[in-house]
Amino acid sequence: MKNFLKFAGFILLTSNLSADVKDLYRQHCQVCHGQKGQGGLGSSLVDGQWTYGNSDAEHAEVITRGLPDMGMQGFGEILSDKEIRSLVIYIQELTRQADPAKAPRNHQGLFQTQHQQYRIREVFKNHRKMWGISFLPDDKFIVTEIDGALRIITADGKPAPPVKGTPEIARKGQGGMLDVAVHPDYLKNGWIYLAYAEGSPDHCITTVVRGRIKENTWVDEETIFRADEKFRNGAGVHFGSRIAFREDYVFFSIGDRGRQQHAQNIDYPNGKIFRLHEDGRVPVDNPFVQESSLPAIWSRGHRNPQALAFRPGTDELWSTEHGPRGGDELNRILPGRNYGWPTVTYGMNYNGTPITEHTSLPGLEDPVWHWTPSIATCGMTFADGDVYPGWQGDILAGGLKAQVIERLRIGPEGLAEREVILKDQGRVRDIKTAPDGSIYVILESTGSRLVKIVPEK
Ligand code: HEC
Repeated sequence: MKNFLKFAGFILLTSNLSADVKDLYRQHCQVCHGQKGQGGLGSSLVDGQWTYGNSDAEHAEVITRGLPDMGMQGFGEILSDKEIRSLVIYIQELTRQADPAKAPRNHQGLFQTQHQQYRIREVFKNHRKMWGISFLPDDKFIVTEIDGALRIITADGKPAPPVKGTPEIARKGQGGMLDVAVHPDYLKNGWIYLAYAEGSPDHCITTVVRGRIKENTWVDEETIFRADEKFRNGAGVHFGSRIAFREDYVFFSIGDRGRQQHAQNIDYPNGKIFRLHEDGRVPVDNPFVQESSLPAIWSRGHRNPQALAFRPGTDELWSTEHGPRGGDELNRILPGRNYGWPTVTYGMNYNGTPITEHTSLPGLEDPVWHWTPSIATCGMTFADGDVYPGWQGDILAGGLKAQVIERLRIGPEGLAEREVILKDQGRVRDIKTAPDGSIYVILESTGSRLVKIVPEK
């Protein structure tokens, strides 16, 4: 037994031996390509000009085989495929540093983008961190705060005291009070859905409930999804969660909770998107009703999806999720599909060590778009209606780390246009389209702000 433990320890050690990508670059590439990839004996790796092809695969090929005639040896013998993959990602990071995403022109508060001009108007400023937003009748808003509060805000930005009697949350890392979603038929049924980290900080997981608000008090609570206690853990990461409705169904997401492999296992709630009837019953035609002890699962292989939205006029469910270092993804979510985490990813570990050389494998879904380097995707919506005529049908996706909103237009062949429409106004936590078509954003710094995107001719 002792020997076995020693042996297992040895395996753990050796499998961790992959070097930080920065060290790999410094050791093997810098002498010719320069500290920042600017070039020297070798060509610039950051000017967007590629002699030997501009795909990831072609870069990996050059690094593996080298260009002996040009004076670059091949590294296939001394570096693993995973390490070469991490260098390809690192080149993209260097490129981004050399040419950071440009902010749209902003002249006296007027943001000028490709198809639409707009201003941002502050609706409500909060010294606490708001996390999710949804819309109530009479142009009122309802927001969550990560620390546990649920709060109604009037159309002119006056906050009510926190709703009393909301579920007790576990506040840990990225966990707390998460998304809020007002049922599309709220006027008839009064339902409001909440996703939150439940349990104790050392023993928690994402739960979804619905309830009603009467006299600023949470009442009539019903469980929509509560995973078994055995799935709780003490990790402070990857809780998801966003909520979306279609017809009689509610969809929501839970991240991998730091247990990567569980994202692949359909008997774990980690790293999944779920579909239930709006009252929490399992639809009989869900993809895993036969095979899984968790028949609410709709798709798997997710890392940390923090955005869910339906494309207007269609049944297409879309999501963005956080990758590790690189590999944030935009996905079209289809039932029963496997989105690949952690078997395939365009990213590497935060410390610069590789995860896998595979970005794509048969049977696993490719993202429609991936952000490498990461922007830390959080919140997305579709522009719908005639409020922003230049953006009709486009995706607006938020980024926490990059402090951006990106606009992505999806055509029949996939991504058709991509543009940064807001930058450096705060970390983008949530972005939602109100019933009247107006778009609202939660921007986060020390506190947070709810702002409206006001179109301008
Ligand atoms: C001894 C110098 C040298 C070293 C070391 C070196 N390279 Fe190169 N590299 C070159 C030269 C020279 C070229 C070809 C430039 C040309 O043809 O314009 C090149 C080309 C490339 C290209 C293709 C560029 C293009 O325009 O398509 C990539 C990618 C690349 N190197 C990556 C790396 C990486 C990653 C490392 C470290 C693992 C590395 N190189 C190490 C000299 C070097």
